[in-house]
Amino acid sequence: MPVESDRSGIRRSAQEDLLHPESEFIQRDRSLHPPALTPTYKTSVLRSPRIPLWSLQNSLSEVTGPVFTPEDIGPLDNDLILNYAKDGEPIGERIIVHGHVLDENGRGVPDTLVEFWQANAAGRYRHVNDRYLAPIDPNFGGCGRTLTNAEGYYAFRTIKPGAYPFRNFVNSWRPAHIHFSIFGSGCVQRLITQMYFEGDPLLRHDVIAGTIPDPEAVKRLVAPLDLDAAVPLDCLAYRFNIVLRGRRSTLFENKLQGN
Ligand SMILES: [Fe+2]
Repeated sequence: MPVESDRSGIRRSAQEDLLHPESEFIQRDRSLHPPALTPTYKTSVLRSPRIPLWSLQNSLSEVTGPVFTPEDIGPLDNDLILNYAKDGEPIGERIIVHGHVLDENGRGVPDTLVEFWQANAAGRYRHVNDRYLAPIDPNFGGCGRTLTNAEGYYAFRTIKPGAYPFRNFVNSWRPAHIHFSIFGSGCVQRLITQMYFEGDPLLRHDVIAGTIPDPEAVKRLVAPLDLDAAVPLDCLAYRFNIVLRGRRSTLFENKLQGN
């Protein structure tokens, strides 16, 4: 039986799909994910489930929705440099983050809601529970959103976030990172992940990224510097592509793009 392999590393057979038409979605390969219980990351001890998960039948609305349109997005929602600016622009390194949201066959996924939130350049979140002694930036809110275009591309402008400490073990620091949420037709529920920056020496010490069993999966969370997308004398740029397991795709006769 021929086995397809796509750029996300997912392996499955086309005939296997046809044998299980009742399954609207390809099952997630949980061996790629961190174990739910990873005591080195202390929060996981209380968060991890104690009983096996149940699989439920997908409903029609889960398979076909939700649907987002450009009218849902404000003009500055994808510009964290300006969307909270009061009496000046935020302090820090100006960057563009951009990428391609792809389905399991390597095709761009249009009209997908991409949301992002992050600490400011000093590593402080604008959040009531963040008590880190680094200052709040009065001109930086730290969150935004955008939609992928017709080809599945997204981009936003922001300030590069700083590292911050958290209460886990002594000297537990988070590397610079941006939190992402992906949501759109066929997602069933929003997908959450974190993007890291190429070359960050704190990444190899991070207990949260360290819960991911496959080093190659960690690499896929690291955005490389992309000088081609930088704006001279203005912004550096990083590229972060996001590959969705997504909805089971119809097998088209034409060659699948990206394979
Ligand atoms: Fe964070």
